[in-house]
Amino acid sequence: MSNVLEWKSEFETGNLHIDQQHRYLLDLANDVQVALETNEEEDVVLTAFEELIAYTEYHFRDEEAYWKTIGSQALKAQERAHERLADELRSLIYPVNSDSVGKNLLDWLKRELITHMTKHDQLAVKAASEKK
Ligand SMILES: [Fe+2]
Repeated sequence: MSNVLEWKSEFETGNLHIDQQHRYLLDLANDVQVALETNEEEDVVLTAFEELIAYTEYHFRDEEAYWKTIGSQALKAQERAHERLADELRSLIYPVNSDSVGKNLLDWLKRELITHMTKHDQLAVKAASEKK
């Protein structure tokens, strides 16, 4: 599966709860790639993609709630960044089953989701641990 993105230890933030959600996000993204690459029907691809979007939004809300409980100074910026990422992700599916969807999703994961995990969340987890 050429567009599948494997989990790497360098993606870890050190917060097990967040890391488990990130792993699951990658699993769901990879389910979309498998559906595309095995030429599943459009509704199968769409269902897989909708699950990815729903879980991404759930993950962002969950993180925002956590950053809020620890009094993150960057909460507003984090919320804006999450909103932009969710909007971008939603736009990637169209046109459904076009040849570019799988590549665009992989590019987005590499460019945006990896940055989200390895820069923003790693820093936020570090800041949270320093507050304790
Ligand atoms: Fe995250």
